[in-house]
Amino acid sequence: MSSRFKDRKVVVTSALPYANGELHLGHIVSTYLPADIFTRYCRLKGYDAVHICATDDYGTPILIRSEQEGKTPEEYVEYWNKKDLEDFTDLGIIFDYFYKTSSQENIDLTQYVFRRLSENGHIDRRMVLQPYCENDRKFLPDRYVIGVCPHCGATDQYSDGCEKCGRTLQPGEIKSPRCAICGRTPVQKQSEHFFFKLSSFSQRLKTWLTENKNLQNEVKNYVLRWIQDGLKDWDITRDIPWGVPIPLPEAEGKVFYGWFDNHLCYISSTLTYFKKKRIDGKAFWNSAEIYHYIGKDIVYHHYLFLPAMRMGADEEYKLPDFIPARGHLMLQGSKFSKSRGWYVSLRDFLNNFPADYLRYYLATITPYSQSDVNFDWNDFHARINNELVANIGNFIHRTLNFLSSRHHGEVPAPEEYDDTDRAFEDQILTIREKVEKHLESNDLDRALKKIIDFSAACNRYFQQREPWKGGKGSRTCLYLSVNAVKTIAILLDPYLSFSIEELWRQLNQKEPRTWNSASQIDIEPGHKVSRPKILFRKLEEAEIQKQKDNLVKSESRDQASKEKLLARHPFKKGAKLTEVPFEEFTRLDFRIGRVVEAERLEGSNKLLKLQIDIGGERRQSIAGVAEQYTPEELKNRLVAVIVNLKQRKVFGEVSEVMLLAALDKDKMSLLNPDKEVSEGSKVS
Ligand code: 2FM
Ligand code: ZN
Repeated sequence: MSSRFKDRKVVVTSALPYANGELHLGHIVSTYLPADIFTRYCRLKGYDAVHICATDDYGTPILIRSEQEGKTPEEYVEYWNKKDLEDFTDLGIIFDYFYKTSSQENIDLTQYVFRRLSENGHIDRRMVLQPYCENDRKFLPDRYVIGVCPHCGATDQYSDGCEKCGRTLQPGEIKSPRCAICGRTPVQKQSEHFFFKLSSFSQRLKTWLTENKNLQNEVKNYVLRWIQDGLKDWDITRDIPWGVPIPLPEAEGKVFYGWFDNHLCYISSTLTYFKKKRIDGKAFWNSAEIYHYIGKDIVYHHYLFLPAMRMGADEEYKLPDFIPARGHLMLQGSKFSKSRGWYVSLRDFLNNFPADYLRYYLATITPYSQSDVNFDWNDFHARINNELVANIGNFIHRTLNFLSSRHHGEVPAPEEYDDTDRAFEDQILTIREKVEKHLESNDLDRALKKIIDFSAACNRYFQQREPWKGGKGSRTCLYLSVNAVKTIAILLDPYLSFSIEELWRQLNQKEPRTWNSASQIDIEPGHKVSRPKILFRKLEEAEIQKQKDNLVKSESRDQASKEKLLARHPFKKGAKLTEVPFEEFTRLDFRIGRVVEAERLEGSNKLLKLQIDIGGERRQSIAGVAEQYTPEELKNRLVAVIVNLKQRKVFGEVSEVMLLAALDKDKMSLLNPDKEVSEGSKVS
């Protein structure tokens, strides 16, 4: 094994964040943290490993946002590129190179790959009917057409993919299309488009998927089913002015679809990084193990488009060996959603808690699978306090503190070992291999669990030996314990990069950490450790409560800012209000209801749980009115409500109807009729 690994080269890439808004925990959990932990492990192991990422700069949403902000798209993406890198760095996510899809190197590589694909007969030209909004006088790119998914029937889906069933949709496939800007039905207009002939790669992709034993089986199975169902050729053209230009005179004004160029940026950024170091990047890439870390929503692109494009360009750059895909993040049991404001931004988190707390918590809850992951503030609180503080932090601190206060920091010489010492020594010697096995197979949560269990065993040993009594075996206990602390430091290094730097200083270790030395008992008697500082502070109930409250606030704040954004029409500058067709208004069902039950919602200062009688029928509402009304004040009152909005979950509770209220700065006043009317009366 060791000879294979001696010059093991590894390229790790993380899916590229769109240069279009701040990073949130959803991004971190599926992709960046696992990729960072794995790369850190590889580096400790002595592998030649690089971690590469970039911002994904192109596409219509970015173009529109930049227009709205009065910036050029270049300025806009530059801002987010810097901002993302700052946020990543503050979370301890380290890239060897963080570049951009709009770099000249990526433009060159994209155009080069397009030419190779064309020469090899993998590109077709076809006239396509493009949705065009006559009201807005624009071709409508995919994100600006919404409708019904032709596969599963889900409504309100973007025309390029269905969030419900996960299928990628081709232009024209969406049913009952509507312009996302004005709601009108678009017309179809002719435009010449270039297609990548994905369908002709079906057999090769099938063989590659079947033969590559490193790919996750659960993912493979459904990707193989997609192939079985028949792959469609892929329209790689967009009629917009922001993207990699299609390098043909007759295609002036047309650019590549972002998914044609963005994954090529994995390669172009790696090559740029090595070029700066005067190393042959292509040779490195082709002799390395390639890992592309992704979230499960972009499996289609990484398991089909990406390998097919590399195949079509004669595998000049080798295909991935591993494409670790993890699930989505849920927040307090409900779907994480930036647009609904039900999310936690990375920056907000880092403003309130140490980066390592997030790294620790997310690593413990994220399996190597497609299962979704639930971020729960109470669970976060419990795991940090019970595991990180009371188990790991406690063992480290009690050992170093004891050495410091009773032995002037000096590691004592051990006495003769008894069976308990021998068993503990054996645990120190063998834990590294167990953790490593899981890290190698990308089961990062399981690897961490092993470390947590090991630390608990360390605490038990310390407790059993009672070195504070100074009896026989005390010196052995301290000698083995300080070595166990060093083992924990190395094993936790990929997870808790900031704290372990500090711990290494406290251990007074001069040499850089190496993975294999985790299983060596090499802190010798006579070595002096420094006076320890607390590594992990306990979390207080109040700070967790504050986060839960903020979450509710951000949900309503985000809703408001979304409305403002809609009011600023993206194409028609200066428009003040979005006009809503009368039919749209009549779709909403406004009623008068009576509050029959009202109570506070546990864990929230803002929310009340109300049961509302809307005429012989009761509906639940989770309303953000607790700061303005007590449950008693609301009981028996008539209120105006909307009864046919899609149900949603708030704080894990279903909210079926929405109360209407007037808002005046901080004041809120619930709307109610000025005469007594019966429950269920229609409001029009
Ligand atoms: O889905 C996304 O957020 C895309 N920006 C990911 C791109 S990854 C790629 F480059 F392959
Ligand atoms: Zn329109």
